[in-house]
Amino acid sequence: MSLYDFVLKKYFQVMNNLSGRGFADNIPCLRYFRDFWLHIVEKENAELRERYYSGQIIEDEAFVRLAKKFKNKNVIPFMDLCVGTKCTLNCRDCTQWLPYLKNREMFSAKRIIDDLEKLFKYVDYIHFISPLGGEPFLNPEIAEILEYLIEMSNKGKIGYIRLVTNGTIFPKDNVLKCFHHQNIGILVSNYDGVLNNAAMNNKKQLIDYFKNNKLNYFSPEGFKWFDLGIYNGKYGKKKNELIDTFKTCFAHNCTGFYDGVLYRCARSYAVVNIDGIKPAGEQCIDIGAIKSKKDMKSKLRKFYSLRYLDACDYCVNNNKRCQVEPAVQVESRVHNL
Ligand SMILES: C[S@@+](CC[C@H](N)C(=O)[O-])C[C@H]1O[C@@H](n2cnc3c(N)ncnc32)[C@H](O)[C@@H]1O
Ligand code: SF4
Ligand code: SF4
Repeated sequence: MSLYDFVLKKYFQVMNNLSGRGFADNIPCLRYFRDFWLHIVEKENAELRERYYSGQIIEDEAFVRLAKKFKNKNVIPFMDLCVGTKCTLNCRDCTQWLPYLKNREMFSAKRIIDDLEKLFKYVDYIHFISPLGGEPFLNPEIAEILEYLIEMSNKGKIGYIRLVTNGTIFPKDNVLKCFHHQNIGILVSNYDGVLNNAAMNNKKQLIDYFKNNKLNYFSPEGFKWFDLGIYNGKYGKKKNELIDTFKTCFAHNCTGFYDGVLYRCARSYAVVNIDGIKPAGEQCIDIGAIKSKKDMKSKLRKFYSLRYLDACDYCVNNNKRCQVEPAVQVESRVHNL
């Protein structure tokens, strides 16, 4: 290991240790550094080593390797890409609050690609991108969207593509073909308890396809969900409660790109969709309003240093969260699906 690598590694270890002491919490640039890197290293290890990309060769020094790769670049470590808000299921505890959205629509490939092209003017690299819905295979143009993401991955603008499906739909050949790219991994959620026979058959066919073709996929068994609260308006939390709710939330780094706007959490988008209330200032980045790469860098720094979101006031307090069965079904509030 070179001296430079050694110093980088030590720097990361010091930052990592600061995380337990609350010291970095009060200094935005330290908080940014700590949260950004802890998140990316943890994701890197979990996704590449243990889950979706079993075929990849993994190096141990994730931080040193990535710090070099990200140097002087505008990087998004992880981003959900919403391809539509329609779904084949209506899960009460969905992190995205899908059953409670007012407007549920499918985004065309052109609209998504145009928005991503604008984003790539200001962002050099997205390490993990995760196309999801709703249910992504409901989007009739999902193959076109995946082909674009693969092209961007081949150009070095995207590290890994991780698609998340509820497994209820067996996709067409042009979609299946995309799964053979080495940088694609698929998470098939396991909702066996609520799927009907037709959906179960589709899921089985999908898993068999992945197995037979030795593709990177992951379908967890016996897992539980967290009840983060259904949509029921604001709780009126105090600042310290908001901070605790955000800090301890497993979804607090699930940045998502919805209709040309980057949100720190899917639930910030849901509040806009349901009640038309936009999150305050730094909590979302409208790509259409960015002026330069420098402007984007400064916005990303503020975005990743946030201590809580307005939307956290709509979620249950951290000390009231409990584990629930995955995918418990309710009726959607929208009937034009
Ligand atoms: C919101 S879903 C969207 C993709 C697809 N419709 C699905 O359900 O797989 C993305 C991931 O979040 C997980 N998820 C949703 N709500 C959750 C919760 N309350 N607790 C834990 N995981 C949750 C799902 O199991 C899924 O793996
Ligand atoms: S968690 Fe359920 S409701 Fe939410 S997107 Fe996935 S399948 Fe649809
Ligand atoms: S709004 Fe806050 S508490 Fe709710 S899911 Fe998002 S990060 Fe978690």
